[in-house]
Amino acid sequence: MLSGKKILIGVTGSIAAYKTAYLIRELIKLEAEVKVVMTKASSDFISPLTLSTLSKNPVAIDFVKDEETGEWENHVELGLWADLFVIAPASANSLSKLVSGNADNLLIATYLSAKCPVFIAPAMDLDMFKHFSTKENLEKLVAKGVHIIEPTSGELASGLEGKGRMEEPQVIAQKIHEFFMKDSVLRGKKVLITGGPTYEAIDPVRFVGNHSSGKTGVLLADECAKRGAEVILITGPTNKKVKDPNITVVRVHSAEDMMREVEKVWAAQDIGIFSAAVSDYRPEVAAGEKIKKTDDSLTIKLVKNPDILMWAGQHKKSGQYLVGFALETENEEVNGFKKLEKKNLDLLVLNSLRDEGAGFGHDTNKVSFLKKGNNIQSFELKEKTEVMRDIVNEIEADLKSA
Ligand code: C5P
Repeated sequence: MLSGKKILIGVTGSIAAYKTAYLIRELIKLEAEVKVVMTKASSDFISPLTLSTLSKNPVAIDFVKDEETGEWENHVELGLWADLFVIAPASANSLSKLVSGNADNLLIATYLSAKCPVFIAPAMDLDMFKHFSTKENLEKLVAKGVHIIEPTSGELASGLEGKGRMEEPQVIAQKIHEFFMKDSVLRGKKVLITGGPTYEAIDPVRFVGNHSSGKTGVLLADECAKRGAEVILITGPTNKKVKDPNITVVRVHSAEDMMREVEKVWAAQDIGIFSAAVSDYRPEVAAGEKIKKTDDSLTIKLVKNPDILMWAGQHKKSGQYLVGFALETENEEVNGFKKLEKKNLDLLVLNSLRDEGAGFGHDTNKVSFLKKGNNIQSFELKEKTEVMRDIVNEIEADLKSA
């Protein structure tokens, strides 16, 4: 995901400018913040209104915003705002201006002010693309660290066939995504996540369980995989699906099953995030046949389940990072800090059932992060996806500073 990333899109005069609308949508889908700067020529191909509506931001096109008040478009601010500047489509004319620094329009002036990585997706007719001027300009830009997204071959607006079509918006967005993901310290790291409830069998059809939907584990797995981690998700029963090929899902039922699976893999992991709502107790014996309702009452003796997180904390090697969750109903912080220490955690995510909108069955959650040294950081009520992002950001930040 590109959440928190600010992407500036430059649009120049080419028929491929219509594809910029799709590029904006792709980047917004990846949760980037998008702004657009256009040349006047490009507005003949696509309207600023379309691009401002899709990007949810005003489009910059003129140096002067308001002739009467003299308000001007601050290209320096715009250039410095961006975490990445992608010029798509980039016409032959604009390529040459990028090289010579001919800032006769707002887009080039912004480019000259930008300090962020720059991507360029050329689009032009095949002969223009083959021309030595274009070739030399591209070589010069590459030599200065500009990333070129090569055009593809196919039918061109001129009716000719050849290389010059701007790369498809999905591919451009994917390349930008990959570029940012390369930066993540989670790239190539092995992450073990536990999620979901556990079901403790009473007999072949009944169980002791809880209301966990398994959403948290799946969201955490998605978030880590998106940042390039190799994820194993060991989850109790859930109907939530994971899509990323970097996630291996191991499905279990009981706490003892989960314990066995965790024992097999924990030593090889870099990070453990234990979000499963594990049943603390299980029936001492699971009946082999369905229990008949012959008596007026039925007593089931429950025995304690293994504490999986505690086991992982006890077997934590130096360099391994361990995260646990706690749902407390009283003395939240005091109990949270005790748990952090007792289970040998690096981070404890504390939810309180007292907070409205937090806990099971909500799409939102309100959490605090507890760390060693009485370090506590409390967050607002947020969407669960955002909470998971905050958790993974925190892990990243800790790994970076380690
Ligand atoms: O001690 P408590 O159950 O409050 O701790 C919750 C944390 O411990 C969660 O991270 C949960 O996934 C983990 N846990 C576990 N095995 C248990 C009980 C809890 O891994 N049997």
